[in-house]
Amino acid sequence: MKQTPSDALVVFGATGDLAHKMIFPALYAMVKRGELKVPVIGVAFPNWSLERVHRRVTDSIKRAGGINDKRALRDLLSRLSYVSGDYKDPATFASLKKALGKSRRPAHYLAIPPSLFGTVIERLGAAGLAENARVIVEKPFGRDLASARELNKVARAVFPEDSIFRIDHFLGKEAIMNILYFRFANSFLEPIWNRNYVASVQITLAENFGVKGRGAFYETAGCLRDVIENHLFQIVALLAMEPPAGRDFGAVHTEKAKVFQAMRPLKRDDVVRGQYDGYRREPDVAKHSDVETYCALRLFIDSWRWQGVPWFLRSGKFLPENFTEVLVELKAPPQKLFADSSPVNGRANYVRFQLSPGCDVALAARVKRAGKDFIGSQRELLLCEELIGEETPYQRLLGDAMAGDGALFTREDAVEAAWAVVDTVLKKHHRAIPYKRKTWGPKQADAMIAAFGGWHNPSIKK
Ligand code: BG6
Repeated sequence: MKQTPSDALVVFGATGDLAHKMIFPALYAMVKRGELKVPVIGVAFPNWSLERVHRRVTDSIKRAGGINDKRALRDLLSRLSYVSGDYKDPATFASLKKALGKSRRPAHYLAIPPSLFGTVIERLGAAGLAENARVIVEKPFGRDLASARELNKVARAVFPEDSIFRIDHFLGKEAIMNILYFRFANSFLEPIWNRNYVASVQITLAENFGVKGRGAFYETAGCLRDVIENHLFQIVALLAMEPPAGRDFGAVHTEKAKVFQAMRPLKRDDVVRGQYDGYRREPDVAKHSDVETYCALRLFIDSWRWQGVPWFLRSGKFLPENFTEVLVELKAPPQKLFADSSPVNGRANYVRFQLSPGCDVALAARVKRAGKDFIGSQRELLLCEELIGEETPYQRLLGDAMAGDGALFTREDAVEAAWAVVDTVLKKHHRAIPYKRKTWGPKQADAMIAAFGGWHNPSIKK
């Protein structure tokens, strides 16, 4: 169904960190591509002049990659106005209404602390600014099942579900969109994509840096909340879902939600938590903090397709490499005809998706080496995509939300079902185990996956 595009973009949190690092560079890129033609209204607490806001926006674009199109920058600044005020004060919303002028279908983007989502949404409703409008909400959407439910309730009291755009920026990444495409645009995968052929699936989001000054935020989140329950779970859903009934995004959301609903709730022993040495000395971090900067878990999806197949997910800060990868390992051939039949000698055949820094899909199979003996090695057939002209996730997602296309956003039922999987272990877990920086995290996480070929720790070419 064709949606009516938004006729203004309101950025709450316009002077904040997220807007500075991500949103304004994305808006600049959208102007350059001719994709942003509506007024932009920044809203934030500081009582800044418009000139000061313009300077901040210019600085954000400079830092994000430089200004190579001065006309686009002028164009963006000419669209930008600014409303300052407290989000709790109805007067702020009255000023916003005035600043919106003739615009009747604004998209409200909430780049603000999650604790303020509810207040701003309610005030938008009370000020009559929710009618024909959309609201775009940043992650984290809630911090457990109860708070996600509460937030959904508040949002749904003001906006219909198809006007709420919950951002998980991983869904705007080309390599992740390619999972959906690769699975359902090809027919060769489907016969093997199930418990009969797949032995295990592992997904890693490894980062070779720490919390980068975000200690205060990280103390309220931890690795499981920060990236696993959302980013990695979204990847699981795309890998595990059934084919949708059609191209419309509602059908995709329905299948993804079913994956979360079929996930077995995690128990304490399914999760290994780690903390890098020195985390407790980071600014704004508690001296005896037990917050995890590393998390590995074993997950099961109790569906017809995936019954019995373990899914191993891990992520950590200060690991040796920086990459995101999926490895779907197949079962070994049933008959061991050759001395080196897998997995005796390494890993069985697999399908590997590198999601960052590259966008590769690899199919690994064994081939015979030249010589008298029937001995071979596993090689990868590699499909590489260069991603030239790739939009950043924020460009893509902001553009889609303003156009009313909800395909790359998350739906209420899926969000709640995902929280339900982790809800118990958010509160009941083993203590975080210390690990040295630039190592692959606690040994206990290796033990968890040892019977399934171990973690794949590639060395990423720089
Ligand atoms: C964010 C997390 O959502 O995702 C960060 O808050 C994490 O801690 C980041 O580093 C990873 O995303 P990307 O796109 O930078 O790989």
